[in-house]
Amino acid sequence: MRRNNIVLLLIIIAFLGGCKSKNNVVPLLIYNDADPYMEEFRDNILERTPDEYSIEAYDSQNSQIIQNEFIENLLKEEPPVMIINPVDRLGAYTIVLKAKEVNVPVIFINREPLEEDLYLWDQVYYVGAPAERSAELQSEIIMELFGDSNALGVNDLNGDNIIQVILLKGEQGHQDAETRTEVVMNELETNGYEVEILVIEIANWKTSEGYEAMMELLPIYGEQLELVISNNDAMAIGAIQALMELEYFQDLDNDGFIDHETEPWIPVVGIDGITEALELITSGYLYGTVINDSESMAEAIIELTTAIINGDDVNTISYILIDNKYIWVDYKKYVLDEN
Ligand code: GAL
Repeated sequence: MRRNNIVLLLIIIAFLGGCKSKNNVVPLLIYNDADPYMEEFRDNILERTPDEYSIEAYDSQNSQIIQNEFIENLLKEEPPVMIINPVDRLGAYTIVLKAKEVNVPVIFINREPLEEDLYLWDQVYYVGAPAERSAELQSEIIMELFGDSNALGVNDLNGDNIIQVILLKGEQGHQDAETRTEVVMNELETNGYEVEILVIEIANWKTSEGYEAMMELLPIYGEQLELVISNNDAMAIGAIQALMELEYFQDLDNDGFIDHETEPWIPVVGIDGITEALELITSGYLYGTVINDSESMAEAIIELTTAIINGDDVNTISYILIDNKYIWVDYKKYVLDEN
């Protein structure tokens, strides 16, 4: 009898334990683990997970089909909330409807769903950074570098008072790629800078594509080139690899640092502030970047997740939740002189 009781107790404990872990695991679906910015973003979220629950990350491998399969299976386990970095932001519509059906709140991150999809249900949120602002800050870095728009400084290599640019664009249709490209150009022009776009090349946020694009473009446009504007750091790093290989950068004294006064270089500006980019700024290869603050976004995501799990008012967290939907985290400029 006594033994039976113990067995029963063990079964109950195992059952409760099972339920607890099941309901306490928050899935985090990343669109593609091969994206270095998202990799850092994911780690920033995981590192901040409080003891009360755990977060399990999934790699959607840049496929909305794979992501949808994950979501369908995970929803059956009734997680308390899901954090989703959609592969295709238009995929959010279906995701919201499915989550709503089983009453699982969704926090979208980084790839902004359409407004109407976010408003399909009141338990859907978006945490991101305002793309426009990153381009404004990127244009400020460029303006500070080139100086007076009526009399550009030494970086106007041919002295024609026009900045000759190659622009590397992120994934077509992504809110950040479209807005950053448009706004950086508009900002420069409205501030009186004349810019000649030699070419805009789509390199899908990737270092490899940035490198390949530049290896093709440099033999054609290299002599005119005065500035590379990249929608993100990963593509900027690819551009730098090509510029190094074709000797646009030359570390003449081999000290591991490009001296902008005395050694050949071409300004490259990125966005994100990933670790490798910050290192390249320190060594003078990347001129500047705009920090896409995934540490603060991770904090906001964790606070929101915790509030949802505890049933607290989501408006009491330390980040402003606009219209019960949006949390916006600002960008920051980063160049060598200022740091
Ligand atoms: C952007 C970021 C890119 C890329 C993209 C993925 O915000 O700047 O580097 O990671 O998100 O959606």
